Amino acid sequence: MTQLTLDVILEGEIYHAKLPHRLEQVSLKKAIIEYGVGSILNTPGIPLTRTEWIELIGTIQQTAIKETRLGIPVLYGIDAIHGVNYTVDATLFPQQINMAASFNPDLVKAAASITAYETRASGIPWNFSPVLDVCRHPLWPRLWETFGEDVYLVNEMGLAMLEGFQDNQIDNPYKVGACLKHFLGYGMPLNGKDRTPAWIPERFLREYFLPPFEAAIKAGAASIMINSGEINGIPVHASKQILTDLLRDELGFKGLVVTDWEDIKYLHSRHRIASSDKEAIRLAIEAGIDMSMVPDDFTFSDLLLELIEEGSISESRINESVKRILALKQKLGLFENPGLSPTADYQLFGSETHAKFALQLAQESIVLLKNKNQQLPLSKDAKVLVTGFAANNIKHLNGGWTETWQGDRADEFIKNKPTLLQAIKDKIGTEQVHFVEGTTFDEMTSLREAINAAKDSDHIVLCLGENTYCEFHGNIDDLNLPDAQIEFAKVMIATGKPVTLVLLQGRPRLITPIAEDIDNIICGFYPGNEGGRALADIIFGDQNPSGKLPITYPKHAHGLVTYDRKNSEISSIQGSKICYDPLFEFGDGLSYTTFEYSNLILSKTKMTKKDTLDIIVNVKNTGDRIGKETVLLFVRDEYASITPSVKRLRGFNKIELEAGEQTMVRFQLKKEDLSFVGIENEWLCEAGDFTVMVGGLSTMFELV
Ligand code: BGC
Repeated sequence: MTQLTLDVILEGEIYHAKLPHRLEQVSLKKAIIEYGVGSILNTPGIPLTRTEWIELIGTIQQTAIKETRLGIPVLYGIDAIHGVNYTVDATLFPQQINMAASFNPDLVKAAASITAYETRASGIPWNFSPVLDVCRHPLWPRLWETFGEDVYLVNEMGLAMLEGFQDNQIDNPYKVGACLKHFLGYGMPLNGKDRTPAWIPERFLREYFLPPFEAAIKAGAASIMINSGEINGIPVHASKQILTDLLRDELGFKGLVVTDWEDIKYLHSRHRIASSDKEAIRLAIEAGIDMSMVPDDFTFSDLLLELIEEGSISESRINESVKRILALKQKLGLFENPGLSPTADYQLFGSETHAKFALQLAQESIVLLKNKNQQLPLSKDAKVLVTGFAANNIKHLNGGWTETWQGDRADEFIKNKPTLLQAIKDKIGTEQVHFVEGTTFDEMTSLREAINAAKDSDHIVLCLGENTYCEFHGNIDDLNLPDAQIEFAKVMIATGKPVTLVLLQGRPRLITPIAEDIDNIICGFYPGNEGGRALADIIFGDQNPSGKLPITYPKHAHGLVTYDRKNSEISSIQGSKICYDPLFEFGDGLSYTTFEYSNLILSKTKMTKKDTLDIIVNVKNTGDRIGKETVLLFVRDEYASITPSVKRLRGFNKIELEAGEQTMVRFQLKKEDLSFVGIENEWLCEAGDFTVMVGGLSTMFELV
């Protein structure tokens, strides 16, 4: 039931492993033989090659299999969240927020399937992914690790990713066991800071946060990781209500439940609901934890044993968890093949074939938000000034969990992928491109030089955004982009040359002071290793953008209202601004072609609760080039006993149309799509009027 971080058994200090890494025999034996540690996670702080991974895990398994009484293999786990991001030369995909922006579940499934392949190719069978947290607070530094703010979108993308990882055959040498995280209610900390209190009434927990987990559990997810935060004053790691009553008894989850990092200890040291580490362990085990990500000492094993010996925890409770852990090891095929050597051919690891999927996903995830007078795409004859601190780094394309936890050293390890600057040079020729950094994240560096270079250019590509970060390292007090970046942008605008702003960022940093005056805006989030190429393809028209925002892009620092707002969150009362006034809306995203929606037709205007309702709409590409369009279906419940939302996403469908081509897009609504969690915390479907909205068209039906 103990999971340790790799450093514990490496030479060197914990969190400062000696490099190149080497297993330290005394601690290896202590962990595996003396303590019977069941699981190891993490990297030595830098990425390893496939061969190094296989050798490392192989040696751990040798010890477990040959030198322990029962020969039970160890379960190795890793965060392979956008590709196997801790293996040298792996295929690195866009982050989850980009995957959501693509609105293309098939591509997301393909990306996850490649990730599973390359994770197994690295000898690792267990992946701490996908993140199924619905992010309802744009300050939260883990927004980019999620599929965004909408529960339906998270649900669909989560299922696609899970299928790509597991495909219901996790003993297959090309598949991994997934770990859904972080159960439950992690995505809406009250103050936006990571791992801080959330106040979420049960009704909202069930309606907005639970559905993606529930669906993924039904679809056979192997394991689940717990939310490090607290909900309504109860740390989730100590919540029997959530971990046992809900997860086990109600949802019937049979898989393994692992804590997040150090979270049992935090019940004592941070949350202070336990007066000792031992009491913390008792609480967590009683709540329903199977495995403790301790992560760096043996206290969990020692204290748990004491608790059992004293009779505070029963042996049968331990057996329950141990059975689940053994069952996962068995399902992953570790008893037959613990990973002493590769069992399959992994020739496609890090290949161009895999990179093509990463490129397509990156292209489809980039969101064009403004295109003044159709300035974009740019001509390949244009002379371009590329500027801004994020333009010439691989790390800014990838974000956190890239080569290292914080992703800040990606450029040391990834040498063969183009930055945005390089990709633009590759596209239009080095002679046509000037580069001036202009500004760091928060300080202007080469203003004069940038102004001079602008004079000699036809167009400015200004690449701003965020540094890389993960978890609490990304906490901020202010959603605004730092002043230096905004001021630099204003100077670039003042040169009179057209400016295309490219945003590489993990959350919607505010750009309101420049949004009006800047000509073009592209939000790239973290498009991954192929992101430089993908952006250049879009800027110069080799690809037509098709990404849409999976979040609301706020205009004001305190105007943080999600798209599925309530009717009372209206934009103005008698001309005075009240609430919902975003810069860009959920679902916004332009194309270089135009799409016209017509003939929104429902199969009936009265629907019973046993019926299904068919919806069709005609979509035509009225521009002059091929393009992809995500057709979004929103529904509004006009009146309900719990205040209804202005609209909720109930379906989407991404289509591709040639210039002039048209097609009929179909959706189906069932009673479940019209339900909400009522006053008794149970799903309810109430009769009444509903409005269906697709692409600017709307029509109504009545549920009887
Ligand atoms: C994160 C998890 C991650 C775990 C293991 C934690 O700090 O919250 O998302 O899976 O570390 O690396």
